[in-house]
Amino acid sequence: MLIDGHGRKVDYLRVSVTERCNFRCQYCMPEKPFSWVPKENLLSYEDLFKFIKVAIDEGIKKVRITGGEPLLRENLDSFIKMIYDYKNDIDLALTTNAFLLPAAAQKLKDAGLKRINISLDTLRPDVAAKIAQKDVLKTVFKGIQAADDAGLKIKINCVPIKGINDQEIVEVLDFCKERGYTIRFIEFMENNHAKDGAKGITSDEMKEIVSRKYKNFEMIPRDTSSPAQYYKLEDGYQFGIIEPHKDDFCAACNRIRLTAEGNLIPCLYFEEAMSIKDAVRNNRIDEATAILKKVLADKPEKNKWSDKDDNETSTRAFYETGG
Ligand code: GTP
Ligand code: 5AD
Ligand code: SF4
Repeated sequence: MLIDGHGRKVDYLRVSVTERCNFRCQYCMPEKPFSWVPKENLLSYEDLFKFIKVAIDEGIKKVRITGGEPLLRENLDSFIKMIYDYKNDIDLALTTNAFLLPAAAQKLKDAGLKRINISLDTLRPDVAAKIAQKDVLKTVFKGIQAADDAGLKIKINCVPIKGINDQEIVEVLDFCKERGYTIRFIEFMENNHAKDGAKGITSDEMKEIVSRKYKNFEMIPRDTSSPAQYYKLEDGYQFGIIEPHKDDFCAACNRIRLTAEGNLIPCLYFEEAMSIKDAVRNNRIDEATAILKKVLADKPEKNKWSDKDDNETSTRAFYETGG
């Protein structure tokens, strides 16, 4: 079992396989970064897998593949299969923008993927094109359908941006409700890479918009392993809100992040990281294990925003850390 320096059990590893993306979402990567990480600096699937094996042996029970856009990396299904074949009861999940899912969904499912979280900010093609800066929505819908047809369990992530898609929350909720998907609305997390002037809305504002159609919903007791607070509509459907600005979930944080370059990051907002790259490339598995334990021992108690300094923004790019 992995326990961090504050006594929290850590059993969730997020692994980014690339920082590259085929979208330019306003809240994440509005401009192409000045340069991408050179491909030779990325860890191969084999080297990433060496670390994942260590992490699983030490007590990780849930592995989520992220990016950038993870499906930009070739043969992602082969990587999923490596993990599944090593331990098939791992909660194996992927976070994606769905653009490349139409062709990939079934292969991913066959490889052992269990769950998929998909970004869907709007149901309107022009609004989607404005957010992602590309005409994406038709293909995204096909990708969601392909995941559904393949039998993957689907969660949708939606980031409401003021003046752009914030008034569409109920439509997105209904889209998910009709199809049996979980929806989570995420408060925009300010960061240095987002488009200048992009503004989110608060969880209270989100609830107010939902209440215009659904008058009554009740807060349900929190599952501490999830960053979302869930609410139940009268018909039983549950929607979630991720509210990093209030941030109750640090106390129960169960996760660490590995970037595609091999940096092990203990917290989304934490600037320091330790690299496992040399250790895995040179098969020094004991050293990789020691780095994992050191990073856990130093995992911060709270993210920076818990100090309620709203001017503090993260300098680390979400597309690099894997969200
Ligand atoms: P589940 O396994 O389905 O619960 O997924 P998840 O919420 O862990 O993963 P996903 O990739 O869908 O992340 C959803 C959102 O939650 C993203 O915007 C993440 O940046 C945010 N998020 C995930 N972990 C953390 C965290 O530790 N701190 C903060 N502030 N936000 C997080
Ligand atoms: N604030 C909130 N959510 C964000 N995401 C990416 N950048 C941000 C941000 N600045 C979300 C995406 C994706 C998830 C992994 O992270 O919508 O669904
Ligand atoms: Fe790409 Fe996801 Fe960032 Fe959008 S939020 S630019 S899809 S990594």
